[in-house]
Amino acid sequence: MFASLAPWNSEFSSAVAAELESEPFVTFSLANVDRNGLPHTRTCVYRGFLFDDAKTNILLFTCDKRSSKYKDLIANANFEACFYFHKLHKQFRFSGAARVITDDQYPIISFNKAKLAMKLQEQNVNQENGNKEDGLVVEQEPDFYSSRIDEVGATEPITYRVLSPSQSQAMNYSSTSLADLNKPTIPPTEAEWKAERQRCWNALSRSLKRSFKRPAPGTQVTEEKYKLLDSINRGVDGTSSGQENFVVVCLFVKAVDLVELTGGVDRRYLYKKSYDIDAWKEYEVCP
Ligand SMILES: Cc1cc2nc3c(=O)[nH]c(=O)nc-3n(C[C@H](O)[C@H](O)[C@H](O)COP(=O)(O)O)c2cc1C
Repeated sequence: MFASLAPWNSEFSSAVAAELESEPFVTFSLANVDRNGLPHTRTCVYRGFLFDDAKTNILLFTCDKRSSKYKDLIANANFEACFYFHKLHKQFRFSGAARVITDDQYPIISFNKAKLAMKLQEQNVNQENGNKEDGLVVEQEPDFYSSRIDEVGATEPITYRVLSPSQSQAMNYSSTSLADLNKPTIPPTEAEWKAERQRCWNALSRSLKRSFKRPAPGTQVTEEKYKLLDSINRGVDGTSSGQENFVVVCLFVKAVDLVELTGGVDRRYLYKKSYDIDAWKEYEVCP
């Protein structure tokens, strides 16, 4: 089974490329909720697609294992990530479930066929019930912005089609045959997840790498900690690399809300991923 670009992907990638012509990086606002259900949002740097492969459709950012966002995502992986591209006047609002690659864990990809059949049946019922004229698409698709409640923590297995990079590459280089399309999907191996974390670490600037050595984020500054912060900043602290605190967060996108400001009639599109399979539904809705 080939991995393919989601219908929002080319437009998103073009917007990122346009932004990077004049900006050093692309930022977005990441929102999630804490254990009390309270919302939190903050700016993060977009780090490209998982395995540096747009066809995964999985977005990356990095964070510190000691940060609040990490701890909150471990308890509840639901997220929204909002990008605004000034040059192209486009807003992309991604929602889905986060999973993490750390020094001791990586995403567990599950393909549970029984659950899949149940979910597909549920979706069909929802569609039949929801095809009312003038209805809100979000209401027709009850899980449009939500993750499955039995898979809320970022350490839980996630049902999402992710090909092992070696399988994906082999498919890219070989001519496609019917036999290829019917081959079972091989999820990434532990070694491939580890290599991906290392690839992301290697891509960080020296000063950003150093930031993972700082005292725990959010702890009170004391005179001693200030001295440590200063020596880390100058690269003369002599402590560990800090890589043990480095986390790659994988944003498994399940729905996208794209708004295009045109100066005339604005356009708005909703994209919804089918459960497990690589099929997306697209709706144009009133802005
Ligand atoms: C321009 C900019 C980019 C940032 N990028 C990141 C990032 O990629 N990852 C991250 O964890 N924090 C990033 N931060 C810091 C966060 O916005 C936030 O202040 C910090 O991570 C603490 O958030 P938390 O307490 O919700 O975990 C960035 C801040 C700014 C101003």
